[in-house]
Amino acid sequence: MKVNGTHYRSLWWDYDQGALQIIDQRWLPHDFRIQAVTTMQEYADAIVEMRVRGAPLIGATAAYGMALAMAEDASDANMDKAWEFLDKTRPTAINLRWALNRCREALRPIPQEMRADAALKLAHEIADEDVEINRQIGENGLAIIREIAAKKPAGEPVRLLTHCNAGWLATVDWGTATSPMYHAYNAGIPLHVWVDETRPRNQGAMTAWELGSHGIEHKYIVDNAGGHLMQHGLVDMVIVGTDRTTRRGDVCNKIGTYLKALAAHDNGVPFYVALPSPTIDWTVDDGVAEIPIEERDDFETTHVQGRRADGTIDTVQVAPEGTSGGNMAFDVTPNRLVTGLITERGVCKATPEGLAGLFPDMVKSAN
Ligand code: MRU
Repeated sequence: MKVNGTHYRSLWWDYDQGALQIIDQRWLPHDFRIQAVTTMQEYADAIVEMRVRGAPLIGATAAYGMALAMAEDASDANMDKAWEFLDKTRPTAINLRWALNRCREALRPIPQEMRADAALKLAHEIADEDVEINRQIGENGLAIIREIAAKKPAGEPVRLLTHCNAGWLATVDWGTATSPMYHAYNAGIPLHVWVDETRPRNQGAMTAWELGSHGIEHKYIVDNAGGHLMQHGLVDMVIVGTDRTTRRGDVCNKIGTYLKALAAHDNGVPFYVALPSPTIDWTVDDGVAEIPIEERDDFETTHVQGRRADGTIDTVQVAPEGTSGGNMAFDVTPNRLVTGLITERGVCKATPEGLAGLFPDMVKSAN
């Protein structure tokens, strides 16, 4: 998508430098900084420190990390070492392991002298596929937004609510939850998006920045506002992303998503999840019981980063001295609270049958 009129993906390969380029998202939305990633440690740091973040983007980054590992030493032992090293960077988003497994399975049968080129080609493929998957999610989500728009008086905006950043910054391009928004906007459907700030790291500010750059009307709201807005009929549809969705359709996403789903359920507001197939964990059924929830440094809850009036970016303490924070990064929304899953192959119910119906090939290979 565009930043000040220039099209960017959230990562890209620089052939001159022979290195991956990322947008260092720790400084967004206040500063746009690009960084080259050139060592295995830098790959791990980029994921752990959330310079890159969002399930699909983490997966694509890990694939480029495997490519670097193969360029350094294409042995089986180094492939396994790189897999372990990158896999432990973040535990919840399944795209990370999905990408690492895909790379290892594809590269293992290839002669060692050909692995470096093959690994880089595969990383490009994974990145390009992500863009296409998200474009298709956009088309499929657009159909739902169109239906809602058709029931409204002409010119009245469809009011969406989203949590966290499941935007182009969280993917390679388009985003998942935002892709239907971009498609609807491009199709001329009037929209208004309520953007949850999403403490502690305020990824909602990135969503607001993205939507603003695209010209989509939106308001940045505190995390606790969604229930009130829904009670007052001010939300037509919730769309969120996902970091891992189980084979029965439980959805693990940024902390606070579950509360939005409860409020949507109580108020009869449709709650949709934009779900690329690499985010499905076919090995897990019960998301609450089985998905590991990342716990991050409590500094993220006791402190807040922002921009000062003079333009510098700073961090201030909000909790009293000596108070420690609890920082569970994700929660699980049970499938009964999900109206539908918007995937690249169409929209389905959040049930085992719904997912298996759209992805029979994937269920089969997981069994
Ligand atoms: O901790 P983050 O910023 O990586 O979490 C991101 C989210 O929870 C997104 O909603 C999710 O990854 C879907 S991204 C398309």
